Amino acid sequence: MSEFQQGFGGEHTRRKLDVVAKYLSAYVTVMKKQRFRLFYVDGFAGSGGSTSKADLLDSDPALFPTSDMVEGSPLRALSVDPPFDKYLFIEKAEKNIKSLSEVCAKFPDRNYEVWPGDANEKLREFCQGIKRNKSDRAVVFLDPFGLSVEWETICDLASTEKVDLWYLVPVDGMSRQIKNDGSFLPGAQRIDVLWGSQAWRTEAVRKVEMPQDLFGGVDERLEKNAKAKQFSEMFREHLSGVFKGGVADTVLPLGRGKRHDFSLMFACANPSRPAHEAAMRIANHILRNA
Ligand SMILES: C[S@@+](CC[C@H](N)C(=O)[O-])C[C@H]1O[C@@H](n2cnc3c(N)ncnc32)[C@H](O)[C@@H]1O
Repeated sequence: MSEFQQGFGGEHTRRKLDVVAKYLSAYVTVMKKQRFRLFYVDGFAGSGGSTSKADLLDSDPALFPTSDMVEGSPLRALSVDPPFDKYLFIEKAEKNIKSLSEVCAKFPDRNYEVWPGDANEKLREFCQGIKRNKSDRAVVFLDPFGLSVEWETICDLASTEKVDLWYLVPVDGMSRQIKNDGSFLPGAQRIDVLWGSQAWRTEAVRKVEMPQDLFGGVDERLEKNAKAKQFSEMFREHLSGVFKGGVADTVLPLGRGKRHDFSLMFACANPSRPAHEAAMRIANHILRNA
């Protein structure tokens, strides 16, 4: 592994994408034996193809060897064989939509659509559609940079009872919204939206008693309780409350070097026991070996 790969998160990006790609491959292999219409939905699709650290840095690509290239989730999903019946790529940034469309055009035999716009809005639209057709099933991948996903969207995906979800949860981004003295930064409001309430706040801070004087006086103050690891556990629990097929026991912590910036989680919306047990077996196996 090169210095650049570690420094710019190449390795953890690759691990995340490898996990999802392995699941996609296993999913189509199993599901194609049945009469389902299979969707792959990428909520934060990015530019589609290979992203070099140079692109990320906006610097000279000539400085970076090709081994630093990371194939993005759309390219990996489009390469899955047998293919999904339909691919939906949602992306907000105009610059990325252009290159995403160019990457998709290299797969003329794949049935794809690029949906420009906000992931939350477009995913809700997708959920309404998939609920209407009994034979539709989907894998949805949410790979945002930060706290962009809304709880309402998560609930909509869960309520389809047809979606397998891979979500890169920004646990460090959550933890950074709390100061050591237990006070919240303005960004904590984004967590309220992602959580669907302020319930997380009571778990994220705790009261500590500080002896104040020689006569036994005690002062009470707040301090930060939840770091990335605790947010990861709290969010996994929260997700299990709405996904009837459960959430994978194994969660993959990811980040630059040894940091825990994100947690890759898998949740299954399908309440049918054989369906979610099979999905969980595959997802846990891939996560444990990542
Ligand atoms: C981490 S990148 C995705 C990388 C992609 N999964 C890959 O493997 O190449 C996140 C992408 O989400 C896009 N984005 C950010 N906010 C968004 C939103 N609200 N709706 C849709 N896309 C958004 C960004 O422009 C960026 O391209």
